[in-house]
Amino acid sequence: MLDQLNQLEEKALAALEATKDSDALAEWNRRYLGKKGVLTLMLRSVGELPRDERPAFGRAANGVKVKLEAAYEAQEQALRRAELARELEQGALDVTLPGRPVGPGHLHITTQTLRQIYAIFAEMGFQVYESPEIETDELNFGLLNMPPHHPARDMWDTFWIGEEALLRTHTSPGQIRVMRERANTTCSDPEPIRVILPGKCYRYEQITARSEHQFYQVEGLAVGHGITLTDLIGALTEFARRLYGPERKIRIRGSYFPFTEPSIEADMDCILCGGEGCRVCKYSGWLEIGGAGMVHPVVLRNGGYDPAEWSGFAFGLGVERPAMLKYNIDDIRLFYGNDLRFLRQF
Ligand code: PHE
Repeated sequence: MLDQLNQLEEKALAALEATKDSDALAEWNRRYLGKKGVLTLMLRSVGELPRDERPAFGRAANGVKVKLEAAYEAQEQALRRAELARELEQGALDVTLPGRPVGPGHLHITTQTLRQIYAIFAEMGFQVYESPEIETDELNFGLLNMPPHHPARDMWDTFWIGEEALLRTHTSPGQIRVMRERANTTCSDPEPIRVILPGKCYRYEQITARSEHQFYQVEGLAVGHGITLTDLIGALTEFARRLYGPERKIRIRGSYFPFTEPSIEADMDCILCGGEGCRVCKYSGWLEIGGAGMVHPVVLRNGGYDPAEWSGFAFGLGVERPAMLKYNIDDIRLFYGNDLRFLRQF
């Protein structure tokens, strides 16, 4: 039996060396190592041997198997190398060709839109202020006049990180952060505020062509002495006209947010039909630009500003929607789908 094994090994190695291409190699593998291969059958027949010869035979057979497998792999590589060399010789593979260049890239459409918005508000005296995307329950809700169990929290379902931290549902918690910073300056008196707070927000929502679970907002906050609703409407009107043309009209509707009083929604006349009614404005003639209102006295106080002396306005603008309107994009999911064919267009 052991003799037979040695003969088999010799024969198999010789046959392996004679293989000249991958077909022959596969055939060899089937013949010797395959399920019904010569070696496999031999290994299986170990049971027919006298008991005391079995262990020695088993060991030897396994040794041959390991050797043949290693030889097979070596031959496979040798064949592949030979094939590559042949291709090189024939010129099928030109290793002197330069690589494909990686382009320098450009700004994402959202970044471009954000920068247009910054430029408009900068001219009105607003600074850009950043605040974190991961917030506490207290800043996202509590200090904005939404204590635990306040029903308005239902409007902003989000992703939680443990019990206390969450992905912010809006940029409004930034209002508290700016106020607290400006209320506690070294020169004792709070400072007037005029800032915008751009950034990413998250909501636990079904993703559709019109809503994403991540999106950008630009919050606006102005706090000073004698600021009124008229100032808010003036700022929003100016914004719409700078972004969409001097003929734009603004209308406001009463609304509700726990952190503003009174609260409004601002619309502008449809940029496509000019108010006649079309598919884009759903035949209403108006397009929503954002929620806004006068900062609630409780929120002013939470920020360190005495509502008896100070007043202010705040607004929250969408960023993707205006870009969708401007470029006629019909699916918000395209913004963050990372498809270069889409991104390269802007
Ligand atoms: N934070 C509100 C929202 O996300 C928008 C808003 C901002 C409303 C500021 C009023 C004042 O829906």
